[in-house]
Amino acid sequence: MALSVPPATRPMAGRDFLTLGDFTADEVLRLVDRAAQWKAGRGSARSAQPLRGKTVALLFLKPSLRTRVSFDVALHELGAHPLHLAGGDVGFGHREPTPDIARVLERMVHGVIVRGHRHEEIEDLAAAAAIPVINALTARYHPHQALADLLTLRERFGHLAGLRVAFIGDGNNVAHSLMLGAARTGIHFCIACPEGYAPEPDLVAQGEGWAADTGGSVRIVRAPAEAARDADAVYTDVWVSMGQDDEVEARTAAFRGYVVDEALMRQAAPHAVFMHDLPAHRGLEVTGGVIDGPRSVVFDQAENRLHTAKAILEAVLGEA
Ligand code: CP
Ligand code: NVA
Repeated sequence: MALSVPPATRPMAGRDFLTLGDFTADEVLRLVDRAAQWKAGRGSARSAQPLRGKTVALLFLKPSLRTRVSFDVALHELGAHPLHLAGGDVGFGHREPTPDIARVLERMVHGVIVRGHRHEEIEDLAAAAAIPVINALTARYHPHQALADLLTLRERFGHLAGLRVAFIGDGNNVAHSLMLGAARTGIHFCIACPEGYAPEPDLVAQGEGWAADTGGSVRIVRAPAEAARDADAVYTDVWVSMGQDDEVEARTAAFRGYVVDEALMRQAAPHAVFMHDLPAHRGLEVTGGVIDGPRSVVFDQAENRLHTAKAILEAVLGEA
């Protein structure tokens, strides 16, 4: 049957997807384009199954709704078989050395999708495995989320270069990947965060270097209003990420002045959208009025996880 989605060029075949830093600006934009094609062709595109006959293991060591469901559905619709491994069953990190897990999996499956704790764990797995390893979130990065966010921004504004994105809150995994994705695509990224919660300096330096090439910029400020002023998008994430449960009190105190509310949204451009990767806490990092209001695109972001999951899977697991 004729494909309703044109075949992609796949120079990314066989590679890991651990951070957007592993992909050129052109490759990032190509993934966004491809995700948009999968989105436009959904339904009729079901006959296009570039991963037919492949099995992909999913190893989630932390909770997930959007990432797990989007990769699972994407694998089904691309013709592959998703094999869900419970973290406890595998005993990741303590039952056997990570390289041994990699060498077993590569004999049986075509790729591994991992949601983990320390980023170094997934790097170790990827270094030892001859099959692509895909990052479904670590403490340092969330590249699949960032790609879906770029798609969402482009849908809203028709372009990426020159946009102004304000991130309010923690310089965490989501902020890191969004910052890198923004820098790669010429977006002006500004994060407002309390002292001690800035993005990691090596990633800021990486982002600044790319932004210098693409015409974007990376800025860190203290005041939320300064970041939000004239922004096209105001983005926030949880104050306490998975694995930080012992820091709830300190973080809740530190981020008290970093709520995205109606007053902060008024600082942004009149057409500005509100973004959040979800899950969200109404009354903490964002008010119910903002996240459930007309400027919120959070469920577009969530849906776009599916289309970007397809673009990533097809790129790294498809035929070269
Ligand atoms: N945004 C996101 O990654 O959601 P999940 O943790 O539910 O997968
Ligand atoms: N920063 C959050 C993102 C959840 C999708 C966390 O790591 O828990």
